[in-house]
Amino acid sequence: MSENSRDRGTGSAEYRGLFIALEGGDGAGKSTQSRLLAERLGAAGREVLTTREPGGTPIGEKLRNLVLDHGHGEIDARTEALMFAASRAAHAEQVLRPALEQGKTVITDRYIDSSVAYQGGGRSLGAVAVRDLNAWATAGLWPDLTILLDVDPAGGRSRRTTGSSVEDRLESEPDDFHGRIRVAFLELAATAPKRYLVLDASLPVEELAGIIGNRVDELLAARGAERSAS
Ligand code: TYD
Repeated sequence: MSENSRDRGTGSAEYRGLFIALEGGDGAGKSTQSRLLAERLGAAGREVLTTREPGGTPIGEKLRNLVLDHGHGEIDARTEALMFAASRAAHAEQVLRPALEQGKTVITDRYIDSSVAYQGGGRSLGAVAVRDLNAWATAGLWPDLTILLDVDPAGGRSRRTTGSSVEDRLESEPDDFHGRIRVAFLELAATAPKRYLVLDASLPVEELAGIIGNRVDELLAARGAERSAS
């Protein structure tokens, strides 16, 4: 899958806002980094929207419960992929595009790459089919930057099962499923290195936050310079 094969036609470049996705296996620490980045940007006076998938809209939250909770009977791989894509379609149309149009910096905890990794890799539906499904679902809205917090399956499991939290339907899959997901994420990052920041999720939280913050500051400065030149 080359970078050029992606549908960039209606990507986020048409918007004033910057679109950032945080990705990684379960237990990578994405939600902590999302919060820290939002705090840093907010303190610098930026308007920020933090959101997450699956979910982010009323219909998306309902789909989230259906697809993640145990007890809805068998959910086969294609049905699962379509449920995540449906949640994402609503999120892109109702939340992400409007915020980007308003010039906000949008930080989403998971986006299309999660489907490519979990359903394409983990469920073996194939990266291209799942990417194409999601390009259609979002009418080609791609992030300006994807931050991949790379976590090994055993490390991720021990981080998410400390305390009393119960694993959801996807998290409770075996380590080889999570191993395929890790490989798929890294393959995605390798196809477009300029649009990814790949970090070792086991680094200290503050160190990760510093690296992420610096990269986002650079992008915002570049975006500002482009806008004032045009
Ligand atoms: P997440 O909200 O990150 O879980 P938690 O809040 O418990 O850390 O994601 C929920 C699960 O859904 C996670 O195991 C990853 C999975 N998932 C997919 O399989 N495909 C997708 O497209 C998305 C967005 C998530």
